[in-house]
Amino acid sequence: MYIIFLGAPGAGKGTQAARVAQELNLLHIATGDLFRQALEKGTELAKQVKAYMEQGKLVPDEITIRVVLERIAAPGSPSGVIFDGFPRNRKQAEALDRTLAEQGKVIDKVVYIRVSEKELLKRLSGRWICRQCQASYHPVDSPPKVRGKCDRCGGELYQRSDDKLETVKKRLQVYFSETAPLIDYYARASKLLEVDGEGSVDEVTARMIAALHGEFAGSRER
Ligand code: AP5
Repeated sequence: MYIIFLGAPGAGKGTQAARVAQELNLLHIATGDLFRQALEKGTELAKQVKAYMEQGKLVPDEITIRVVLERIAAPGSPSGVIFDGFPRNRKQAEALDRTLAEQGKVIDKVVYIRVSEKELLKRLSGRWICRQCQASYHPVDSPPKVRGKCDRCGGELYQRSDDKLETVKKRLQVYFSETAPLIDYYARASKLLEVDGEGSVDEVTARMIAALHGEFAGSRER
């Protein structure tokens, strides 16, 4: 099962991908998390991506595609993947399709998580992330049990430098011009499932699992 989670910054892709991957036993590949882990470790990749991320721009396709393809090819990858934050433009989508086709695989479904711009801004301005496991929190909607500490692993919580208002505006602008056209691309391929991303985290997870179960149960019956 190969699934893409598509949506604007703050739509809940990471939050939902972690839950759905666990529920369906899939590997969760998040390009933003891979880049942030590189930044934490100060690797060669970090030098290549830092400036783009800080400015809210897309990291160049050659770098992003290479990182994702290496991750898919890594030993121990299970038979299914949720891609979170990838692809983000037509070139990345086509590269992913080509690579999967070489392995006799296809993208099964693309879940587009729809959230209003007002809600996106509210979520991103209050987001706190765990330095160790990348779990995300919000002081009102999903507060940690202990202030500044991750419930899951006890790691330190911090605010992403690209969650500053000016950078968030740039990320939204990049999303609408470069990534949103993929909604139409996957709709034309009859792969798009649209899910309302507003409501509690549990409610959205339930909608996503129901939508995916409905699709895959339907395809098994056909
Ligand atoms: P990336 O890390 O992918 O950021 P993004 O797409 O902007 O998405 P976010 O992580 O901001 O949001 P999300 O949808 O995952 O929401 P989340 O679950 O965290 O990318 C960062 C940067 O890396 C890019 O700008 C770019 O530079 C580079 N990059 C990454 N991928 C790339 C690619 N493919 N090509 C080129 N460059 C790339 O939720 C947000 C907040 O809301 C959290 O606080 C959460 O707790 C809260 N929340 C979630 N759901 C709910 C809910 N239902 N109700 C209330 N609050 C909620």
